[in-house]
Amino acid sequence: MEEDLTKYETIGLGSGIYFGNLHPSIINIAKNFDNSPQRVFIFSTRGNPIHGKYHGQLKEILNTKGKRIVGEISFKGYDGTGPFLIFGGGNIGRPNERDLSQSISFIRKALPEYCIKDYYKLLDNRLPVIDGSTNKYYYKDGKNLFLLRGDIVSINQNLCTGCGRCKTVCPMGVIELIDKKAIPDKELDCTLCNLCCINCKERAITLHYNWRDTINVAKRHKNRKSL
Ligand SMILES: Cc1cc2nc3c(=O)[nH]c(=O)nc-3n(C[C@H](O)[C@H](O)[C@H](O)COP(=O)(O)O)c2cc1C
Ligand code: SF4
Ligand code: SF4
Repeated sequence: MEEDLTKYETIGLGSGIYFGNLHPSIINIAKNFDNSPQRVFIFSTRGNPIHGKYHGQLKEILNTKGKRIVGEISFKGYDGTGPFLIFGGGNIGRPNERDLSQSISFIRKALPEYCIKDYYKLLDNRLPVIDGSTNKYYYKDGKNLFLLRGDIVSINQNLCTGCGRCKTVCPMGVIELIDKKAIPDKELDCTLCNLCCINCKERAITLHYNWRDTINVAKRHKNRKSL
Protein backbone atom coordinates (compact mmCIF):
# COMPACT_ATOMS: atom_id res chain seq x y z
CA MET A 1 0.00 0.00 0.00
CA GLU A 2 1.38 3.42 -0.89
CA GLU A 3 1.52 6.05 1.83
CA ASP A 4 -0.59 9.15 1.23
CA LEU A 5 2.00 11.95 1.42
CA THR A 6 -0.40 14.83 0.86
CA LYS A 7 -1.21 15.00 4.59
CA TYR A 8 2.37 15.92 5.57
CA GLU A 9 3.74 19.48 5.83
CA THR A 10 7.34 18.30 5.45
CA ILE A 11 8.73 15.33 3.56
CA GLY A 12 12.24 13.84 3.42
CA LEU A 13 13.20 12.08 0.19
CA GLY A 14 16.38 10.07 -0.08
CA SER A 15 18.17 6.90 -1.20
CA GLY A 16 21.54 5.67 -2.41
CA ILE A 17 22.84 7.09 -5.67
CA TYR A 18 22.59 4.73 -8.64
CA PHE A 19 24.01 5.63 -12.05
CA GLY A 20 24.14 9.33 -11.24
CA ASN A 21 20.65 9.69 -9.77
CA LEU A 22 18.50 8.91 -6.76
CA HIS A 23 16.59 5.62 -6.88
CA PRO A 24 13.83 5.63 -9.56
CA SER A 25 11.18 5.03 -6.88
CA ILE A 26 12.11 8.37 -5.26
CA ILE A 27 11.91 10.16 -8.59
CA ASN A 28 8.50 8.54 -9.19
CA ILE A 29 7.20 9.66 -5.79
CA ALA A 30 8.13 13.24 -6.70
CA LYS A 31 6.56 12.95 -10.15
CA ASN A 32 3.30 11.90 -8.50
CA PHE A 33 3.24 14.84 -6.06
CA ASP A 34 0.39 17.31 -6.35
CA ASN A 35 1.10 21.07 -6.39
CA SER A 36 0.52 21.75 -2.68
CA PRO A 37 3.24 23.91 -1.08
CA GLN A 38 4.96 21.26 1.06
CA ARG A 39 8.51 21.49 2.32
CA VAL A 40 10.97 18.82 1.20
CA PHE A 41 14.49 17.91 2.26
CA ILE A 42 16.72 15.58 0.23
CA PHE A 43 19.34 13.11 1.46
CA SER A 44 21.50 10.45 -0.15
CA THR A 45 24.49 8.16 0.22
CA ARG A 46 26.89 7.78 -2.66
CA GLY A 47 30.11 6.08 -3.69
CA ASN A 48 31.90 9.05 -5.22
CA PRO A 49 33.73 11.70 -3.16
CA ILE A 50 31.43 14.53 -4.31
CA HIS A 51 27.72 14.48 -5.00
CA GLY A 52 27.72 17.09 -7.77
CA LYS A 53 24.37 17.06 -9.56
CA TYR A 54 23.04 13.76 -8.24
CA HIS A 55 19.98 15.49 -6.73
CA GLY A 56 19.46 17.61 -9.87
CA GLN A 57 16.52 15.80 -11.50
CA LEU A 58 14.65 15.49 -8.21
CA LYS A 59 15.11 19.20 -7.48
CA GLU A 60 13.83 20.13 -10.94
CA ILE A 61 10.69 18.03 -10.46
CA LEU A 62 10.10 19.46 -6.98
CA ASN A 63 10.41 23.00 -8.32
CA THR A 64 7.82 22.33 -11.02
CA LYS A 65 5.50 20.96 -8.30
CA GLY A 66 5.82 24.15 -6.22
CA LYS A 67 7.63 22.44 -3.33
CA ARG A 68 10.02 24.36 -1.10
CA ILE A 69 13.37 22.57 -0.80
CA VAL A 70 14.57 23.32 2.73
CA GLY A 71 17.92 21.59 2.40
CA GLU A 72 19.88 18.69 0.97
CA ILE A 73 22.63 16.49 2.31
CA SER A 74 24.70 13.62 0.96
CA PHE A 75 27.17 11.26 2.61
CA LYS A 76 29.59 8.68 1.40
CA GLY A 77 28.10 5.20 1.80
CA TYR A 78 29.59 1.73 1.59
CA ASP A 79 30.00 0.95 -2.09
CA GLY A 80 30.04 -2.69 -3.17
CA THR A 81 30.57 -1.85 -6.84
CA GLY A 82 33.58 -0.99 -8.96
CA PRO A 83 37.31 -1.64 -8.62
CA PHE A 84 37.44 -1.13 -4.83
CA LEU A 85 35.60 -4.44 -4.44
CA ILE A 86 38.95 -6.27 -4.48
CA PHE A 87 39.74 -4.42 -1.21
CA GLY A 88 36.34 -5.29 0.27
CA GLY A 89 34.45 -2.32 -1.20
CA GLY A 90 34.68 1.47 -1.16
CA ASN A 91 33.86 3.79 1.77
CA ILE A 92 33.98 0.99 4.34
CA GLY A 93 32.35 2.10 7.60
CA ARG A 94 30.45 5.01 6.03
CA PRO A 95 28.15 6.64 6.91
CA ASN A 96 29.96 6.90 10.23
CA GLU A 97 29.44 8.62 13.57
CA ARG A 98 30.65 11.95 12.15
CA ASP A 99 28.18 11.72 9.27
CA LEU A 100 25.44 10.99 11.79
CA SER A 101 26.26 14.07 13.85
CA GLN A 102 26.45 16.17 10.66
CA SER A 103 23.01 14.95 9.66
CA ILE A 104 21.69 15.94 13.11
CA SER A 105 23.17 19.44 12.63
CA PHE A 106 21.61 19.55 9.16
CA ILE A 107 18.13 18.81 10.50
CA ARG A 108 18.59 21.22 13.42
CA LYS A 109 19.37 23.97 10.91
CA ALA A 110 16.88 23.07 8.16
CA LEU A 111 13.93 22.15 10.39
CA PRO A 112 14.51 23.58 13.88
CA GLU A 113 10.81 23.38 14.74
CA TYR A 114 11.04 19.56 14.74
CA CYS A 115 14.04 19.44 17.09
CA ILE A 116 14.19 19.47 20.84
CA LYS A 117 17.16 21.03 22.60
CA ASP A 118 20.20 18.82 22.86
CA TYR A 119 20.28 18.77 26.66
CA TYR A 120 23.03 16.17 26.73
CA LYS A 121 25.34 18.56 24.88
CA LEU A 122 24.31 21.46 27.09
CA LEU A 123 25.23 19.42 30.14
CA ASP A 124 28.64 18.91 28.57
CA ASN A 125 28.73 15.51 30.25
CA ARG A 126 30.91 16.86 33.05
CA LEU A 127 28.65 16.13 35.98
CA PRO A 128 30.52 14.32 38.75
CA VAL A 129 29.29 11.09 40.24
CA ILE A 130 28.30 11.51 43.88
CA ASP A 131 29.35 8.49 45.85
CA GLY A 132 26.56 6.58 47.53
CA SER A 133 23.71 8.43 45.85
CA THR A 134 21.65 7.73 42.76
CA ASN A 135 23.17 9.80 40.02
CA LYS A 136 20.67 11.07 37.51
CA TYR A 137 20.99 13.64 34.77
CA TYR A 138 18.95 16.72 35.49
CA TYR A 139 18.93 19.80 33.30
CA LYS A 140 17.39 23.07 34.44
CA ASP A 141 15.85 25.07 31.61
CA GLY A 142 14.27 28.23 32.99
CA LYS A 143 11.78 27.06 35.57
CA ASN A 144 11.66 23.52 34.21
CA LEU A 145 13.77 20.67 35.51
CA PHE A 146 14.30 17.80 33.06
CA LEU A 147 15.40 14.29 33.95
CA LEU A 148 17.39 12.98 30.99
CA ARG A 149 17.26 9.30 30.11
CA GLY A 150 18.31 7.35 27.04
CA ASP A 151 21.22 9.51 25.85
CA ILE A 152 23.81 6.87 26.66
CA VAL A 153 21.76 3.76 27.41
CA SER A 154 18.90 3.58 24.93
CA ILE A 155 16.28 0.94 25.54
CA ASN A 156 13.82 0.20 22.77
CA GLN A 157 10.52 0.15 24.63
CA ASN A 158 8.79 -1.75 21.82
CA LEU A 159 11.25 -4.65 22.05
CA CYS A 160 11.56 -4.73 25.85
CA THR A 161 9.54 -7.55 27.43
CA GLY A 162 10.27 -6.44 30.98
CA CYS A 163 12.17 -9.64 31.84
CA GLY A 164 14.48 -7.70 34.16
CA ARG A 165 17.77 -9.37 33.15
CA CYS A 166 19.41 -6.03 32.38
CA LYS A 167 18.46 -4.68 35.81
CA THR A 168 19.86 -7.82 37.47
CA VAL A 169 23.20 -7.80 35.65
CA CYS A 170 23.90 -4.06 35.74
CA PRO A 171 26.60 -3.63 38.40
CA MET A 172 25.83 0.08 38.74
CA GLY A 173 22.07 -0.05 39.32
CA VAL A 174 21.42 2.13 36.29
CA ILE A 175 18.26 0.39 35.09
CA GLU A 176 14.85 0.40 36.76
CA LEU A 177 11.76 -1.56 35.78
CA ILE A 178 8.86 0.83 35.56
CA ASP A 179 5.46 -0.48 34.41
CA LYS A 180 7.19 -3.68 33.21
CA LYS A 181 9.60 -1.77 30.98
CA ALA A 182 13.32 -1.23 31.51
CA ILE A 183 14.21 2.44 31.99
CA PRO A 184 17.82 3.75 32.16
CA ASP A 185 17.07 5.81 35.22
CA LYS A 186 20.54 6.62 36.55
CA GLU A 187 22.56 6.95 33.40
CA LEU A 188 25.23 9.05 35.03
CA ASP A 189 26.37 5.93 36.90
CA CYS A 190 26.78 3.89 33.69
CA THR A 191 30.34 2.70 33.11
CA LEU A 192 29.63 1.42 29.57
CA CYS A 193 30.46 -2.15 30.62
CA ASN A 194 28.04 -3.55 28.00
CA LEU A 195 26.66 -6.25 30.33
CA CYS A 196 23.06 -5.12 29.88
CA CYS A 197 23.32 -5.25 26.08
CA ILE A 198 24.78 -8.73 25.86
CA ASN A 199 22.27 -10.11 28.38
CA CYS A 200 19.19 -8.71 26.69
CA LYS A 201 17.68 -11.51 24.61
CA GLU A 202 15.49 -9.02 22.78
CA ARG A 203 18.50 -6.91 21.73
CA ALA A 204 16.57 -3.93 23.04
CA ILE A 205 19.54 -2.04 24.49
CA THR A 206 22.04 0.14 22.64
CA LEU A 207 24.88 2.13 24.16
CA HIS A 208 25.74 5.45 22.52
CA TYR A 209 29.19 6.83 23.15
CA ASN A 210 32.35 7.99 21.48
CA TRP A 211 35.91 8.14 22.79
CA ARG A 212 35.26 11.48 24.52
CA ASP A 213 32.39 9.93 26.45
CA THR A 214 34.61 7.09 27.67
CA ILE A 215 37.09 9.64 29.04
CA ASN A 216 34.21 11.49 30.71
CA VAL A 217 33.07 8.24 32.33
CA ALA A 218 36.55 7.78 33.80
CA LYS A 219 36.62 11.42 34.99
CA ARG A 220 33.17 11.19 36.55
CA HIS A 221 33.98 8.01 38.45
CA LYS A 222 37.53 8.81 39.49
CA ASN A 223 36.62 9.66 43.08
CA ARG A 224 34.22 6.79 43.55
CA LYS A 225 35.11 4.61 46.52
CA SER A 226 32.40 1.97 46.24
CA LEU A 227 29.96 0.45 43.82
C1 LIG B 1 24.05 -0.17 -9.36
C2 LIG B 1 24.79 0.88 -8.59
C3 LIG B 1 25.12 2.09 -9.19
C4 LIG B 1 25.79 3.09 -8.48
N1 LIG B 1 26.07 4.29 -9.08
C5 LIG B 1 26.69 5.27 -8.37
C6 LIG B 1 26.97 6.54 -8.97
O1 LIG B 1 26.64 6.80 -10.12
N2 LIG B 1 27.59 7.48 -8.22
C7 LIG B 1 27.95 7.25 -6.93
O2 LIG B 1 28.51 8.15 -6.29
N3 LIG B 1 27.69 6.06 -6.32
C8 LIG B 1 27.07 5.07 -7.02
N4 LIG B 1 26.81 3.86 -6.42
C9 LIG B 1 27.19 3.66 -5.01
C10 LIG B 1 25.99 3.84 -4.10
O3 LIG B 1 25.40 5.11 -4.28
C11 LIG B 1 26.39 3.74 -2.64
O4 LIG B 1 26.97 2.50 -2.43
C12 LIG B 1 25.20 3.94 -1.73
O5 LIG B 1 25.66 4.09 -0.41
C13 LIG B 1 24.23 2.77 -1.83
O6 LIG B 1 23.18 2.91 -0.93
P1 LIG B 1 22.33 1.62 -0.49
O7 LIG B 1 23.27 0.79 0.36
O8 LIG B 1 21.18 2.19 0.27
O9 LIG B 1 21.93 0.91 -1.75
C14 LIG B 1 26.16 2.85 -7.13
C15 LIG B 1 25.83 1.62 -6.53
C16 LIG B 1 25.17 0.65 -7.24
C17 LIG B 1 24.83 -0.66 -6.57
S1 SF4 C 1 16.90 -7.46 29.37
FE1 SF4 C 1 16.01 -6.51 27.54
S2 SF4 C 1 13.91 -7.30 27.46
FE2 SF4 C 1 14.68 -7.72 29.51
S3 SF4 C 1 14.00 -5.94 30.73
FE3 SF4 C 1 16.06 -5.48 29.99
S4 SF4 C 1 15.74 -4.36 28.08
FE4 SF4 C 1 13.82 -5.36 28.57
S1 SF4 D 1 26.52 -0.65 30.26
FE1 SF4 D 1 26.93 -1.64 32.23
S2 SF4 D 1 26.79 0.02 33.72
FE2 SF4 D 1 25.82 0.77 31.85
S3 SF4 D 1 23.66 0.28 32.09
FE3 SF4 D 1 24.56 -1.43 30.99
S4 SF4 D 1 25.12 -2.91 32.58
FE4 SF4 D 1 24.77 -0.95 33.60
